[in-house]
Amino acid sequence: MTEAARITLVEVAPRDGLQAEARTLSTETKIALIERLADAGHTVIEATSFVSPKAVPQLADAEELMKRLRRRDGVRYPVLVPNAKGLDRAIAVGADEVAVFASASESYSRKNLNRSREEALTDYAPLVRRAKDAGKRVRGYLSMVIADPWDGPTPRERVGECAKRLLDMGCDEVSLGDTSGVGTPHEVAALLDVVTRSVPIANVAMHFHDTYGQALANAHLAMSRGVRIFDTSTGGIGGSPFAKMAGGNLATEDLLWLCRGGGIATGVDLDAIVATARWLASELGHELPAHTSRVLREGAQG
Ligand code: HMG
Ligand code: MG
Repeated sequence: MTEAARITLVEVAPRDGLQAEARTLSTETKIALIERLADAGHTVIEATSFVSPKAVPQLADAEELMKRLRRRDGVRYPVLVPNAKGLDRAIAVGADEVAVFASASESYSRKNLNRSREEALTDYAPLVRRAKDAGKRVRGYLSMVIADPWDGPTPRERVGECAKRLLDMGCDEVSLGDTSGVGTPHEVAALLDVVTRSVPIANVAMHFHDTYGQALANAHLAMSRGVRIFDTSTGGIGGSPFAKMAGGNLATEDLLWLCRGGGIATGVDLDAIVATARWLASELGHELPAHTSRVLREGAQG
């Protein structure tokens, strides 16, 4: 086991979290969320998506949000772009980092992007090049890396090939998503064994959904295999509107607790995240999530 000394968190609540919510927050409240996340010490906060407002109405205010957000030095604010129109919109508001999102499986690619897996990857190559030429950092997402709800298990070699294609076309890192949250540490270990034959572990981030309560165990396993970048969501909110069986994202507070126990630095303050998760739950009209209800009610020290 390689113990991590430090990991980087990519906070996805303002994007993956809010896209899955029944209640659409005001732009002002979204900005307050992002400010709180930066105050807590996050250095990478996925701010919004430049996707079709018909497809994801919760994030239809992407332009207004990016124009009004006071961006801080030392904090990156990636935004999702599905196509050239999305990239144009992101560049127009001066986004510093964009994320393209492909799927390792066929069915989810069609449901999420209205394109085959191959078409999506082919279409992204000139998009990534244009983003790099415009000086943007680029993240590449790959979804359904363990299994797809419609297609079944995803071949691991295919995940490795797709990850390599995203890096080869110019992505700075690739985030491997267990979108439906079905993976266990055993499968994540087997996946990383195969994927790291094709891509350097330093360029791999992991993005776990928590449908079966395995997200934290999966993250710990990935950390022991050398992964140092993890996507997490404050309050554990999140999911794909195009794979509704998916559970929320790995909760930021859960991974912070694990890191605290192991002396692993993140730069993110657990108590500030707990307070933000509690505030966010009230803004969204949520019951506090069952598995974290005690810590969210009583605070990390309670
Ligand atoms: P389409 O219908 O195939 O594309 O959409 P189209 O080019 O035919 O456009 C249809 C309409 O959408 C047109 O408007 C376009 O202008 C508009 P109309 O003429 O009907 O009025 N449109 C756009 N508007 C604004 N910005 C754009 C844009 N593109 C098209 N960028 C498309 C295909 C993918 C674009 C669309 O279906 C879409 O935006 N879908 C949303 C996908 C999405 O956001 N999914 C969730 C994020 S991915 C995720 O959550 C997984 C992840 O977390 C990792 C994991 O968990 O694995 C990242
Ligand atoms: Mg996701």
